[in-house]
Amino acid sequence: MKVLFIGDIVGSIGRDALESYLPRLKKKYQPDAVIANGENAAAGRGITKAIYQDLLFMGVDMVTMGNHTWDQKEIFDFIDEVDYLIRPANFSAEAPGRGMATLTKNGKTLSVINLHGRVFLPPHDDPFQKADELLAEAKAISPLVFVDFHAEATSEKIAMGWHLDGRASVVVGTHTHVQTADSRILPGGTAYISDVGMTGPYDEVLGMSKEAVLYRFKTNMPTRFEVPKRGRAVVSGFFTEIDDETGKAISCERIYINEDHPFRG
Ligand SMILES: [Fe+2]
Repeated sequence: MKVLFIGDIVGSIGRDALESYLPRLKKKYQPDAVIANGENAAAGRGITKAIYQDLLFMGVDMVTMGNHTWDQKEIFDFIDEVDYLIRPANFSAEAPGRGMATLTKNGKTLSVINLHGRVFLPPHDDPFQKADELLAEAKAISPLVFVDFHAEATSEKIAMGWHLDGRASVVVGTHTHVQTADSRILPGGTAYISDVGMTGPYDEVLGMSKEAVLYRFKTNMPTRFEVPKRGRAVVSGFFTEIDDETGKAISCERIYINEDHPFRG
């Protein structure tokens, strides 16, 4: 199975860039499934139902979330009704929604798991233990398992890669919005990258207006961070081919597209 993952979509610049590049990426990589992290899709903060539907219309098959899951209050009205949106599985048992979902595409079934880190982030339940629980469930369905670990610290993400090596097909890190250059297939057969990076504004600070971020760094004064609506875009992704029988990764490739790194079809 070929799986294309799109890193954190930030605001309208990110959504427009995805709309522009997804057809070309699909033509080049021929993915069976497309997964995207959409937790920053609504102006950097959460996701709305309309944006979720737009992403599906563009060709995304599953949307994962993260620390901004609850930022758009309307999510409480639709998260339990939609089939292709998951939030971190190690949120409280009281949280609506779910942390794992199954996709069947071209006769191949893939489980997608979303987890949340605990280093420099709120103290959710243990993501390592939750990963073990969900893997047991997923493996009963199919050997193909994709994990989006939304976390800040590279150490925690690398540790999760080793924790799941040979058990998950793919472990990608998300959240930092900066792509890491450490993509590889771990010895047990798990494709891994510490952070896929973002799909959003290219000339700002993690997608937020650089003027506001600079003002806060220079003055320590409170200021509201906004996602600009105009400007150059970056598209970040991660492509993996997985053996359908064993669930092990065969190959993986980082995708990083912007004016300094133009798309090559
Ligand atoms: Fe995040």
